Amino acid sequence: MTETTIQDFNAKDSLIEWFDHHRRPLPWRKDSNPYAIWLSEIILQQTRVDQGLPYWERFMATFPTVESLANAPSDQVMALWAGLGYYSRARNLHRTAQLIQERGSFPSQSSELVKLPGIGPYTAAAIASICFKELSPALDGNALRVYSRYFAIADRIDRSSTLATIRAQAIPVLDAHRPGDSNQAIMDLGARICTPTQPKCPECPLHRQCEAFRRGTMESFPVKPSKKAPNVEDWHFHIYVDQGKFGLEKRVDQGIWGGLWSFPVAIAPEAATATALRCTHLLSHKKLTLFFHEKDVVKVPMTPAVQWFSLEEVKNLGLPVPIRWWFEEKNYF
Ligand code: ADE
Ligand code: SF4
Repeated sequence: MTETTIQDFNAKDSLIEWFDHHRRPLPWRKDSNPYAIWLSEIILQQTRVDQGLPYWERFMATFPTVESLANAPSDQVMALWAGLGYYSRARNLHRTAQLIQERGSFPSQSSELVKLPGIGPYTAAAIASICFKELSPALDGNALRVYSRYFAIADRIDRSSTLATIRAQAIPVLDAHRPGDSNQAIMDLGARICTPTQPKCPECPLHRQCEAFRRGTMESFPVKPSKKAPNVEDWHFHIYVDQGKFGLEKRVDQGIWGGLWSFPVAIAPEAATATALRCTHLLSHKKLTLFFHEKDVVKVPMTPAVQWFSLEEVKNLGLPVPIRWWFEEKNYF
């Protein structure tokens, strides 16, 4: 059980007081109509507030109730959503409106809300706290940034155990009478004050208790999984030409250039002959340096997979871009 400390107590009050003075004046904040709140949360899942606001206005004007949305033709719903992207949100919105109409009321607990299409743990906590005063921290990327700094959470933010820790520690920061406002204060802080870089801590209502601020290490949180250094590989193509025919082998279907015809290749550090033609090739997760070695057929043992093709035949094969590049470079094509 997490104890409420003096720090949390002060933070909780500072946060609510800040929200009362600095909240963004968003139209769905005027009341706690679950339909209006749900609609706003779905729109804001992948859309910025300024971009989403006119869509929310149009939806509310066209479909003022969950029943009117449920009974609308799906084409009309999709047309109204056009331009917002991530269209599964619109399909789920429509489906969920119908499910709510069938069950006769809006679920009031986050544990029930998450069962509806398009509602994840964050959206469920947001709706339940704003509309039904459930004491659940709404944790999206912005909120996790704020909390991970506030508590100086040193564990990787992508771990579910870290999420559970933050969820437990965040509860005392929420005002039990106004959990929705506390959550929305954190959202506004994340959007405007506790920004990814150069957070404006002196303006932040939490700065007296914030551990990252105390240490001066705000940007060290949240701890993200380290990005792997791009893989660098040297690939050596072995080019065999015998009586005007080229030795090529078909690459296995899986992996790079699967199913295409390539010179046999060795992926290994190999003395790069100064004369070997080379080029670089960037893949999504690798940077290849490609070396083209023209080999002497009689001296070099041939791999069994190699087949022989005349230049005319080669032209009609599926070739990886760098192999085609070599033929062009050598004026064969
Ligand atoms: N982003 C998602 N939900 C929000 C809300 N209720 N207020 C501000 N930003 C949000
Ligand atoms: Fe974020 Fe700074 Fe506020 Fe801490 S004091 S929560 S780092 S803005």
